[in-house]
Amino acid sequence: MFNKLSLKIGLLFFIFILIIEAFLFATLYFTLVNERVDEVMENLLARGETHSDVLEDSFEDMTLAHVGMMESASDFIVVITDEAGEVMVNSDALEPEMLVILRHTDFEDTSIDGEIIEEDWQDKRYIATDSPITIDGVHAGHVFMFAPTDNIERIIGHLKNQFLLVGIITVILTIITILLLSRLITLPLIRMKEATEQLSQGNNQVDLTTDRNDELGELANAITKLSTDLDRLKNARNEFLSSISHELRTPLTYIKGYADILDRPDTTEREREEYMGIIREEAAHLTLLVGNLFDLAKLDRNQFTIEQKNVSIAELLKSVAVLVKSAFDEEKIELSISCGDEVQAFIDSERIQQVLLNILDNARKHSSAGDRVTVECCQEVNGIAIRISDEGQGIPEEELPFVFDRLYRVEKSRSRERGGSGLGLAIAKEIVESHGGRIRIDSQFGKGTAVTIRLKRGGDHS
Ligand SMILES: Nc1ncnc2c1ncn2[C@@H]1O[C@H](COP(=O)(O)OP(=O)(O)OP(=O)(O)O)[C@@H](O)[C@H]1O
Ligand SMILES: [Mg+2]
Repeated sequence: MFNKLSLKIGLLFFIFILIIEAFLFATLYFTLVNERVDEVMENLLARGETHSDVLEDSFEDMTLAHVGMMESASDFIVVITDEAGEVMVNSDALEPEMLVILRHTDFEDTSIDGEIIEEDWQDKRYIATDSPITIDGVHAGHVFMFAPTDNIERIIGHLKNQFLLVGIITVILTIITILLLSRLITLPLIRMKEATEQLSQGNNQVDLTTDRNDELGELANAITKLSTDLDRLKNARNEFLSSISHELRTPLTYIKGYADILDRPDTTEREREEYMGIIREEAAHLTLLVGNLFDLAKLDRNQFTIEQKNVSIAELLKSVAVLVKSAFDEEKIELSISCGDEVQAFIDSERIQQVLLNILDNARKHSSAGDRVTVECCQEVNGIAIRISDEGQGIPEEELPFVFDRLYRVEKSRSRERGGSGLGLAIAKEIVESHGGRIRIDSQFGKGTAVTIRLKRGGDHS
């Protein structure tokens, strides 16, 4: 039940609180003891002063006897001496300790006000006060008051017991509070530890959602979010793997099937050539697919080197146009490019060329003869934009959010005929984003599609 962290926190708290409590208790104890002792001493002195006042009014045998008699019934002891120190009255028997005090008193040189002459209540058996009797300015004697110190010790002993009791109760309460507190702090931590252990064992369904809005609450919610993210990632990976195997299986089935037919003795030379062509095409398709997958894997691991330079977009578009011209001409699709020479971007021209080729390839594949594909570029507040729009078949609205997903194709069977594997836009998105740019696609089904790429402006970085 006692895990390490709560033990550490608990011990630390306990030691700190114990030190503070001990300090406070000690201060309180000594203040109280001193106050009690002072009170006893003041009382004794006041009592002596009262006697000396009475005797100053009437310094007679009867009064002396009265005073002695009064104190014989009390806890105190009174000793009255004459001006030379000779004992005249004593309420109780004189003990050696009292005599020592009497002997050491300077009877000649005593102030008119009384004073405490023995205050060592810890070592001596009596504390004592001396109140001189002065009649008409003449020093006539002394009233010595003695109080046994066991009285004080009893009071202090009582106080000590009370302190001990309160101290023990405080320590017990402290321990209970600390135990509860450290459990309160460490319990959510223990739950989180268990949850992360489950996560590492592959159970991604952990729910630590809590209403706490302190750091522990934030941590718990972060772990819950991590688990849902992990779950999503795992599902995405599984989906991706099954799509890849599907993508690979189809061309492989073709290749194997046609290779088998080739083996048959009754295959004519013409058929043989046709089938060889299909096999070659499928192999090329496979090579492209695997190459694209490699690119994506590299992009995922950030191993895709991007060498950014200031590049003139007009130049880049021109070189891209040269590459795609023949394919566009063949399908009688018009390609028009308009871009000012001043537009410069800070990019890796080879990678962005790859992106543009793919988007133009898409535009061509989904347009019909007579359609036009337009490429424009412009400066924007924070960068530059390249827009490729076509008048082709467009993408249904419900498919639009998915076209950047890996291996996603709108019309699965038809685009396969066109050689697409559904990786082009996914790669384009990764490349643009690794440039710190953004890509978006707008489309109206039946009317056309426009892809906009936004990139960092050139010129400031050289
Ligand atoms: N200009 C466009 N017009 C209509 N549909 C498009 C257009 N561009 C993309 N698409 C749709 O989006 C899907 C995904 O495009 P993407 O470029 O990622 O894959 P692909 O062209 O099928 O294959 P790849 O580019 O890997 O050869 C395409 O299959 C297509 O259905
Ligand atoms: Mg494509």
